[in-house]
Amino acid sequence: MTILVTGGAGYIGSHTVLQLLMGGDKVVVVDNLDNSSETAIKRVQELAGERGKNLTFHKIDLRDKPALEKLFASQKFNAVIHFAGLKAVGESVQKPLMYYDNNLVGTIVLLEVMAAHGCKNLVFSSSATVYGWPKKVPCTEEFPIGATNPYGRTKLFIEEMCRDLYQSDKTWKIILLRYFNPVGAHQSGYIGEDPRGIPNNLMPFVQQVAVGRRNALTVFGSDYGTKDGTGVRDYIHVVDLADGHLAALAKLSDPSVGCEVYNLGTGKGTSVLEMVSAFEKASGKKIPLVMAARRPGDAETVYAETDKAERELKWKAKYGVDEMCRDQWNWASKNPYGYEAPTK
Ligand code: NAD
Ligand code: UFG
Repeated sequence: MTILVTGGAGYIGSHTVLQLLMGGDKVVVVDNLDNSSETAIKRVQELAGERGKNLTFHKIDLRDKPALEKLFASQKFNAVIHFAGLKAVGESVQKPLMYYDNNLVGTIVLLEVMAAHGCKNLVFSSSATVYGWPKKVPCTEEFPIGATNPYGRTKLFIEEMCRDLYQSDKTWKIILLRYFNPVGAHQSGYIGEDPRGIPNNLMPFVQQVAVGRRNALTVFGSDYGTKDGTGVRDYIHVVDLADGHLAALAKLSDPSVGCEVYNLGTGKGTSVLEMVSAFEKASGKKIPLVMAARRPGDAETVYAETDKAERELKWKAKYGVDEMCRDQWNWASKNPYGYEAPTK
């Protein structure tokens, strides 16, 4: 198959592109490199060896309709995996229009061009953020959905847009994947997460403390009603998550699929302190902690019900927290400054 991957230079995209190549697919990546580096693409190509030649990259912004039109006119795609989007919750509160423009307009342009070229198979990156502060856990796909910030609203709106699109034209096949908390890196330590600026998320921050770029981790809240008072999340190894996309692509060829939603998580909840302790064990580094107030908008406990994905996608996460931390540290220790610095 030939798969178009938007946002394929990014963290989850690059890992997914590698798995696709290793599975024998041809991959075309479209990315504006707004939050990523072309080095990630080069490294994926190297890791894929002989199969690296099946990867091509186009620096295109999704909102550039003529450029996207030209690409779709030049070759046929069997399906699109749509990762491209801005994802920083705090920034989305400061710059809502930028988020609506990038994420919503980018997606509308993509869907229009796909329809015009008869490519109606889509896998979209949604998020567990649509569950907000769930009334109970684990979160099932049937839970009511909502959003508490502009970033989350873009995920919610795109999900709704996809459901409307399918209702209007049943020849679309759309899978919405709600990711829980992706962490870790490819086992080679050659690709991984490389956030710009101060990391918003737990593990990139922990990793930067471990390599000496930051002094201490601020723990947001130690008074939650959880086992140790800190927030609980469903961390999932990024390679497992990448494999979930291959399972979703396979599912698109099932005639019964219309517009479906699946959680991609492990079904296990891990607290901030448990995660830090697993990382300390994996890295041999002490992570100094500063206990602080809760972060506004954070939920107490969020983890996935995984039954639907296991049953219908025949996919299940393989890796646990120890492997996530091992691989995160392998990437961090080899690339303390991400893609910009030379590897050891
Ligand atoms: P990322 O920032 O590493 O990757 C996103 C990529 O999209 C980047 O390479 C960026 O340059 C590109 N991009 C952004 N806007 C674009 C545009 N208009 N045109 C072309 N390219 C554009 O993020 P990620 O962690 O790999 O996330 C991928 C997707 O998964 C995003 O949609 C994100 O919202 C979603 N998601 C991520 C998480 C997470 O915790 N990482 C959780 C749930 C959902
Ligand atoms: N945390 C800290 N200190 C930090 C960063 C995070 O204590 O410096 C805590 C948070 O309070 C939370 C846990 O670590 O309890 C995880 O926080 P993350 O920011 O890593 O992840 P979130 O679950 O808050 O949100 C992430 C993405 C969202 C996405 C969601 C579900 O940022 O966009 O996962 O996929 F929607």
